[in-house]
Amino acid sequence: MSKKADIGLIGLAVMGENLVMNMESKGFSVAVYNRTLDKVDAFINGRGKGKNIIGTHSIEELCASLSRPRKVIILVKAGNPVDAYIDSLLKYLDEGDVIIDSGNSNYTDTIRRTKYVEDKGLYYVGMGISGGEEGALKGPSMMPGGSEKAWPLVKPILQAVAAKVDDGTPCCDWVGQDGAGHFVKMVHNGIEYGDMQLIAESYSLMKNLLGMTADEMHKVFSEWNKTELDSYLIGITAEILNKKDDDGLPLVDKILDSAGQKGTGKWTGITALEEGVPLTLISEAVFARCLSSMKNERVEAGKEYRIERKPLECNKNEMVEDIRKALLASKIISYAQGYALLRSAASSYGWKLNYGGIALMWRGGCIIRSTFLGKIKEAFDRNPEITNLLLDPYFKNMMDTLIPSWRRVVSASALSGISIPAFSSALSYFDGYTTETLPANLIQAQRDFFGAHTYERIDAERGRFFHTNWTGEGGTTAATTYSV
Ligand code: 2AM
Repeated sequence: MSKKADIGLIGLAVMGENLVMNMESKGFSVAVYNRTLDKVDAFINGRGKGKNIIGTHSIEELCASLSRPRKVIILVKAGNPVDAYIDSLLKYLDEGDVIIDSGNSNYTDTIRRTKYVEDKGLYYVGMGISGGEEGALKGPSMMPGGSEKAWPLVKPILQAVAAKVDDGTPCCDWVGQDGAGHFVKMVHNGIEYGDMQLIAESYSLMKNLLGMTADEMHKVFSEWNKTELDSYLIGITAEILNKKDDDGLPLVDKILDSAGQKGTGKWTGITALEEGVPLTLISEAVFARCLSSMKNERVEAGKEYRIERKPLECNKNEMVEDIRKALLASKIISYAQGYALLRSAASSYGWKLNYGGIALMWRGGCIIRSTFLGKIKEAFDRNPEITNLLLDPYFKNMMDTLIPSWRRVVSASALSGISIPAFSSALSYFDGYTTETLPANLIQAQRDFFGAHTYERIDAERGRFFHTNWTGEGGTTAATTYSV
């Protein structure tokens, strides 16, 4: 073969094909391979016809058709297939070549694989991609991490194909070492769960608390999309509410209220529990999907309790504006919590994360893209080390204007029996985060009472632990303390 390709790609499902078309359209030649070889031929003779794309029928042929240092993207089902392809590639690649996993891999796998590949003298990149099929074709958000020395080798291609924000900055930058790229992608997906749940709760409040129709809500979401809430997800929600079924009635009303999930939200929640970071909003969003999927059980329980849920007597326009503000306040909490998880993981895994850069990567191309992320980028520009976004002056001022509405919405929903777990748990988190004295003194007393777990005192220096013989019957020996 005379002319060598700039990059290779394994995995010609829709995302893979679209990414190849995107890279080719930006002037890069691409060699492709897929387990089912018919798909290679179909692609080369179909969408790829006449393009700068080379079809190959083996990993050996794929590697032989690449210019050096060779770069191969793996975009296949997460899990064992990725490990199998890494082993096949290692047979034909040389030192200094780059393997890029763009699938939905768990970051712990990526940490392991980076070491495995680096130990063999090659470079490894674990890269999260968001934006769905359309994003892959027209410009996704890309979050690469792994072997830092690989970045200059893959940067020109990746930044050329990534989405761009208004000033032309690509939504793709180096995230950090080993699993950092896939970790950031995981948190992105968790935030996506949170954003979707908040929008669904706003919809539920308008529908059940205010008795609004889909048409009315379509107008509200369209208006909201011109405010600080301007985002892809609010935009598609407005469109969804406007869509009619064949009989002319709103399609959304015909869709069964049982939400699916593929697991990245759950991973984010599990990671937060492991890191000891209160990621309440995203976790509630995952549980809300679980609760929704218990449709039959809910129907039965509803028959038992027969809670009367009637629309509220109130000024509708004022309440809609309260809901908008409650959504914005809760969204700030969700991102503050998501970033707190990023900070914690960075410290646990020794990653140097560029938090503003991450906001910029999410600013375009991906499902959570929004103008709001531009404000987060600015907050990190002001103070790259800020411990919590709630402490940034812009978000602090904004929160001050939102809090009264947020409280009104949460209390109205509680009085009317409408479930809004994300809104209400976000408010509880906020009230806890801003409260100097929480009732954990009592928890510590209980722990010491039954398990001699000891406690610190407000009138002694931190780090000094005390034990009380609460009943006069227990011993004076204290258990070892530890914290999560
Ligand atoms: P296929 O076309 O041969 O099924 C998304 O499913 C992509 O992952 C497809 O390109 C698919 O290849 C590939 N894939 C899924 N499971 C695989 C496996 N066990 N081994 C190799 N490729 C796999």
